[in-house]
Amino acid sequence: MNHADTLDRYAVMGNPVAHSKSPQIHAQFAAQTQQPLCYDAILVALDDFKAAVSAFHAEGGRGLNITVPFKQEAWGLADMRTARAERAGAVNTLWWDGQNTLHGDTTDGVGLVRDLRDNHGLALNKLRILLVGAGGAVRGVIEPLLAEQPSELIIANRTAHKAVELAALFKDLGPISGGGFDALAPVPFDLIINGTAAGLAGEVPPLPTAVVGAKTWAYDMMYATEPTAFVRWALEHGADQARDGLGMLVEQAAEAFWIWRGIRPATGPVIAQLRKA
Ligand code: ATR
Repeated sequence: MNHADTLDRYAVMGNPVAHSKSPQIHAQFAAQTQQPLCYDAILVALDDFKAAVSAFHAEGGRGLNITVPFKQEAWGLADMRTARAERAGAVNTLWWDGQNTLHGDTTDGVGLVRDLRDNHGLALNKLRILLVGAGGAVRGVIEPLLAEQPSELIIANRTAHKAVELAALFKDLGPISGGGFDALAPVPFDLIINGTAAGLAGEVPPLPTAVVGAKTWAYDMMYATEPTAFVRWALEHGADQARDGLGMLVEQAAEAFWIWRGIRPATGPVIAQLRKA
């Protein structure tokens, strides 16, 4: 029996997945908390997600992180979902309990809020927040953002009707509305969060520049070794602060680790190490 057989198995599944920092992050969490676990990255064929999850469990796997493009399929696969995952329509964390019931949760929103609030010291209470995009990345963060009681949460998307529909899904939870970029009043927001995929092509969503002011915080859910296109755009237009999503990535992983292991790892050293690397 080799050493790996004595470790509890976890993994991230995605396509592509080679770029994922999750194995590095969870290895650091495990070392820090002395948890006997291993964590791999598994590339899954686009039509093979369900079978891959079953195979992982059959081989003794305990839990999974799910990334693009399987978060919605993971939602469908879970036997039980947390309330926040239920409404988000996406699952990024799966685990089996003692009865082999498969549970699903989404930790992206908690990760975003913790990074903004705890790591960057930005209290969200009473802020006017602009959330840009209406895809899977945005769905997962709306409920935790509203829980911080902003004075307003506006979703703006290139395809306006998707933002309108998304806002309607959450309207019982707080002051939320949705629309297109053109409908935004030319008034600076306190916080602008980019949740679009525009950055993948080095692009920035075509927001009116009047939404940025001297007190505006900008946050890009994407991260890169260099400042992202959105971070650069915000600073060029006079934002007070602009941050990328590396901290969100580590915080969502810490929440998954907590769900699986019942222990909260320290995220600060892991963020610092990744930033240095
Ligand atoms: P994800 O799961 O990463 O959110 P998605 O569900 O495909 O991916 O959503 C991508 C989001 O990025 C959408 O809000 C999309 O806008 P549309 O709904 O109009 O397609 C947005 N997006 C992608 N490229 C963009 C660009 N160049 N400018 C503005 N928005 C963009």
